[in-house]
Amino acid sequence: MSAGVELDHVTVKFGNFTAVNDATLDIKGGEFFSFLGPSGCGKTTILRTVSGFLDPTAGQVRIGGQDMQGIGPNKRPTALIFQNLALFPLMTVAENIAYGLRVRGIDRTTRRRKADELLDLIALKGQGDKLVSELSGGQKQRVAIARALAVEPKVLLLDEPLSALDLKLRQHMRTELRAIQQRVGITFIYITHDQGEALTMSDRIAVMSDGVIEQVADGKQVYDLPQTPFVASFVGENNAFTGTVSKVANGAAVVDTPFGALAGLNPKALKVGDKAILFVRPESLKIGKGGSATSFVSTVESVAFEGNMTHVFLKGASKKDITVTVGRHGGAKIPAQGEKSTVHYDEAHGLVLPEGKMARD
Ligand SMILES: Nc1ncnc2c1ncn2[C@@H]1O[C@H](COP(=O)(O)OP(=O)(O)O)[C@@H](O)[C@H]1O
Ligand SMILES: [Mg+2]
Repeated sequence: MSAGVELDHVTVKFGNFTAVNDATLDIKGGEFFSFLGPSGCGKTTILRTVSGFLDPTAGQVRIGGQDMQGIGPNKRPTALIFQNLALFPLMTVAENIAYGLRVRGIDRTTRRRKADELLDLIALKGQGDKLVSELSGGQKQRVAIARALAVEPKVLLLDEPLSALDLKLRQHMRTELRAIQQRVGITFIYITHDQGEALTMSDRIAVMSDGVIEQVADGKQVYDLPQTPFVASFVGENNAFTGTVSKVANGAAVVDTPFGALAGLNPKALKVGDKAILFVRPESLKIGKGGSATSFVSTVESVAFEGNMTHVFLKGASKKDITVTVGRHGGAKIPAQGEKSTVHYDEAHGLVLPEGKMARD
């Protein structure tokens, strides 16, 4: 059984400081939903508000349609997994998994049966009698998930649960977590500062900055159609060209940038004279000449061969370089350092947004 989670104008303040500012969203039952944002943007605060460890200063949290005001953490249909798993090292794997059931006075036979079922679910069949200390990092991670699932929550809350693992394991666990979520079918609310995790696992993502939800969409939309400069610059690599809108027509806009007039889509309906930023992703830039408003010239600062791709760094207007990523079989001749290079892109791969706060990098 899963349950949806609604945040209805939720604000959380610590003294005068606003950690979460007027968050409204509707997480569906059975959804894998992620909050993505840099450290300190308010992700954990949201999770603590959903789990009941923290009361919102204003607004309402509803789980399964029910207002959670005044309902304590242990009375909510949620379970929380922290970064530092907090498993009991001297207990067996099965005892760890069944711990919450023991606390609730469930009998030994039922506990063992439930633990065995969950071991099956997390692909650790028959390993219930091992000590937790005998498990690898990834296995411990899965045991922590099984332990949280044992009490049959309708919503599982995960606070950066993979951040303590090494890179390879972290990537493997993404697939694993997603598979477990699909098997149990309950709502997962996952918070992370790692865009790769959010993009690969989630049905939808809320991108946050300074306590504000900037955009809620699926991964593809967040990447292809970011709504704000923050989302455009925080999720994936992006090249930003700042300037003033000089022309608008047919859903597109032309921006006067230090590299001349450059065009892109205009989803926010900016008008001539508006301050704007044109974003073009490195993989959308191609070496060679294109249309007049989708092509520009700059000097090659450096070239980095990475095997499956090559990054060509061009001199930008400010301190930051423009990155052009050329795929292994991109066909183009890679220019050399110091050369002047012309690059171009499809107008549909340029995105013009109103000037605004960017992600710090
Ligand atoms: N109990 C608290 N008292 C005061 N400030 C807090 C408290 N908890 C969190 N904050 C502040 O709220 C902001 C958001 O914190 P948090 O939700 O933990 O961010 P994240 O999980 O995105 O890294 C931070 O600036 C943090 O310092
Ligand atoms: Mg946090």
